[in-house]
Amino acid sequence: MQEKIVRAIDIAGVHIPNNLWFAPLAGYSYLALRITVKKHGAGLTYTEMISVEGVVRGDKRTIRMAAPEDGNTAVQLFGGAYPEKFQHAAKIMMEEYGYKIIDINFGCPVRKVIRIGAGSCLLREPSAMGEIVRAVKETGAVVSAKIRAGYSAVNIEKTIPILDKAGADIIILHPRLATQMFAGTADWSLVPRAREMTGRILIGNGDIDTPENALDRLRDSGADGIMLGRAAIGKPYLFRQIAELDETGAYYTPTLPEVRTGLIEFARLFVETSSARSLSPMRSAVLSTVKSRGNTREIRGKVSSISTVDELIEALDGWHEREVHPNETASR
Ligand SMILES: Cc1cc2nc3c(=O)[nH]c(=O)nc-3n(C[C@H](O)[C@H](O)[C@H](O)COP(=O)(O)O)c2cc1C
Repeated sequence: MQEKIVRAIDIAGVHIPNNLWFAPLAGYSYLALRITVKKHGAGLTYTEMISVEGVVRGDKRTIRMAAPEDGNTAVQLFGGAYPEKFQHAAKIMMEEYGYKIIDINFGCPVRKVIRIGAGSCLLREPSAMGEIVRAVKETGAVVSAKIRAGYSAVNIEKTIPILDKAGADIIILHPRLATQMFAGTADWSLVPRAREMTGRILIGNGDIDTPENALDRLRDSGADGIMLGRAAIGKPYLFRQIAELDETGAYYTPTLPEVRTGLIEFARLFVETSSARSLSPMRSAVLSTVKSRGNTREIRGKVSSISTVDELIEALDGWHEREVHPNETASR
């Protein structure tokens, strides 16, 4: 029998129930989706990226994206090479909002983030990365650093030892270059290389979309854990499936009516937990689920315009009648 590879992680007094984590996704990692993926077995979730400038200024919209800390959530901060601002924002997140894990975004490749010298722009200044981590570490937080393989060329041999030495407790590697955006595939051969450079908690991320490839990545890369992003938006139940496959060698796939019920619960949770007046900010998450189950052209059109839970129920009505999904138990 193979050794189990889904396991808890304890770090500096913080207990994380497992090593299957949900990635920070701007526009998606709001409270309702974070709660939903945790219900389906994610061990840790991340907020979407939060501006240090906004936190320090007390900007209400910024704070709303970060609060409240819902248990087993890390807050992700982004900003330019100003260690003292990161430290100030981290203190606010810890003291006023109860966060224990502060993540620093060293990977975002989008123009408006690069323009202010933040995100993946910092990969070009490894010494500034070290200073930021050191400054945040002084607050007593568990520090997580999320990086890409490099900006326009791989430079993990520079960045990882600097993060390690500065005291980052967790290093998350998405092995694509920033200039690639999301093109091509994540180069997972870089994760074992990263493993040789650090004894810190190392998390691999990128293109994991089935329970099988999740376990293969976890087993073959030497990483302590994995992080799932895009695939988990439409299939939050992937986390449980990965753990089940590890535990029993098989996993349950929810039926279409079960997925439909899950979507309605998710929408109700969104209404309860969000200040938005309509469901429009969560339409794309609903669409991801609908698309993940195929043959949905008519429903997709309806879902793109939902505003209320009743409209969602109506839009999804009949979905299960057109689709036949047996109560399958897949095995390897
Ligand atoms: C819509 C979208 C928003 C994202 N927002 C963030 C973000 O706020 N912070 C961050 O570090 N990465 C962000 N990412 C990158 C993801 O966290 C992750 O590294 C990437 O999608 C690769 O993982 P995946 O293939 O499992 O999706 C985002 C990606 C997407 C597609």
